Amino acid sequence: MPALEVEHVSAAYGPYRALFDVSFAVPAGAVTALIGSNGAGKSTVARVVTGLLAATEGTVRLEGTDVTDLPAYRIARAGVAHVPEGRGVFANLTVEENLKVAFRQRLGRRAVAAALERAYASFPVLGARRRQLGGTLSGGEQRILSLAKIIVVPPHLVVADEISLGLAPLMIDAVYDGLRRIQAAGTALLIVEQQVDRVLDVASSAVVLEHGSVVFAGPTSGALAAVEQVLAARSERATSGAPVGSAPSGPPPQPSADQSRRRRRWGGAGAGPAE
Ligand SMILES: Nc1ncnc2c1ncn2[C@@H]1O[C@H](COP(=O)(O)OP(=O)(O)O)[C@@H](O)[C@H]1O
Ligand SMILES: [Mg+2]
Repeated sequence: MPALEVEHVSAAYGPYRALFDVSFAVPAGAVTALIGSNGAGKSTVARVVTGLLAATEGTVRLEGTDVTDLPAYRIARAGVAHVPEGRGVFANLTVEENLKVAFRQRLGRRAVAAALERAYASFPVLGARRRQLGGTLSGGEQRILSLAKIIVVPPHLVVADEISLGLAPLMIDAVYDGLRRIQAAGTALLIVEQQVDRVLDVASSAVVLEHGSVVFAGPTSGALAAVEQVLAARSERATSGAPVGSAPSGPPPQPSADQSRRRRRWGGAGAGPAE
């Protein structure tokens, strides 16, 4: 039984259609990479899966149960944790208050103290900063804080959106270590990432989105070829002068397919405005 099944899902922001007939599955306990350029629809998939945005068509199933029309809080209760784009922490609450809010929501008040202890044991950096305001943590520390909210009570499924964006390489290592620990506890992960090599390293399957549609879904071994096809098609359109992009705010055309291939990522860390 897959942890997550997305079947023929379409979604829109008002009149703007962002997803078209998207289908894929995240196997139980496995890591699935969700990759694609800026504006491809990755965050929209994350929002539909976690109940923040209603699908206009299609079905979302968690461990076989249809959750398509459930509100976000019910999906969270069902064991889905969303690490949204951006920092995902309350800037004006301390580290400890951030953790308390999360634990109270998921565990109830009486379990908070024990969960705090476990969080500080797993992430000593947070213990040292428990009275510091969330907004004054470094980007990496904020990511660790978002992960700590999750790891202490392993959910069935984690949806992590651009979790390494703008972080220094060492911090990215720490974040990915955290993700591996979450997986080791039996949790399935859907990881949205622009650093393709990085995420394919930990993932066993991948979904490639382009203009709101799935262009590849399958084992990671096939994903790179799909990525390179997308990039090649794009650079062909760019050199032939045809319009390249979907989103008006999307990145400029890649300089060359070769360069893109070497970097194997879309956009640059921090290239776009943080959402
Ligand atoms: N709140 C919104 N209102 C209107 N359009 C949106 C909104 N959020 C995203 N979009 C549009 O939907 C498309 C997909 O966006 P998104 O899922 O954020 O892409 P990605 O995460 O892959 O960069 C983009 O064209 C984007 O401009
Ligand atoms: Mg996004």
